[in-house]
Amino acid sequence: MRELSLHILDIVQNSIGAGAKTVRIAVNADTARDTLTITIADDGKGMSKEFAANVTDPFTTTRTTRKVGMGLALFKAAAEDTGGSLKIESEQGKGTTVTAAFGLTSIDRVPLGDLAGTLLTLVRGAPDVDYVLTCGSGSELAAADTRKIKKELDGVPIDTPEILIWLEEYIKELLETHGLLGL
Ligand SMILES: Nc1ncnc2c1ncn2[C@@H]1O[C@H](COP(=O)(O)OP(=O)(O)OP(=O)(O)O)[C@@H](O)[C@H]1O
Ligand SMILES: [Mg+2]
Repeated sequence: MRELSLHILDIVQNSIGAGAKTVRIAVNADTARDTLTITIADDGKGMSKEFAANVTDPFTTTRTTRKVGMGLALFKAAAEDTGGSLKIESEQGKGTTVTAAFGLTSIDRVPLGDLAGTLLTLVRGAPDVDYVLTCGSGSELAAADTRKIKKELDGVPIDTPEILIWLEEYIKELLETHGLLGL
């Protein structure tokens, strides 16, 4: 995939498929460590230990339409291509956390891409799921939280076109002020 945000979209779709109510997405660029870390944590149904241990193998899938599942395998390959790694922690009935570390300045790292657009696609596709996007550089963090946004909206659906336009700008600004735009 040409953008890390498309990997994020794919991995979050796994979370939604696993019945997650809240998905936490964290993107952190650490220049001192030359690492770009992406974490996707959900409270979905989780995986058994054996399944989680083999899940980055393309032939490990619960898909019924085809026998290979590529999402995690591709995300892992993208991380390893940059000298990084992918880690999966999962507990049945509790949830799953996928952490990918990329070499920030590696020439093999694909750009972060349109993360705001990815968030919008997710909110549009599964508006009842809540998303918490945390982004930052090093220890300086900021978050966009749809649970808080929904409270402010006071009953207006979050997938109302005008709200989505606002949300996209809001996230773009968040990414810009935290040095993640154009990464
Ligand atoms: N967050 C998650 N919670 C629970 N199970 C998961 C999660 N992520 C992945 N899985 C399980 O791991 C399998 C493999 O995931 P992966 O994303 O690699 O492929 P896929 O989703 O099956 O297919 P594709 O991503 O190509 O559409 C899934 O079929 C699912 O059973
Ligand atoms: Mg998948």
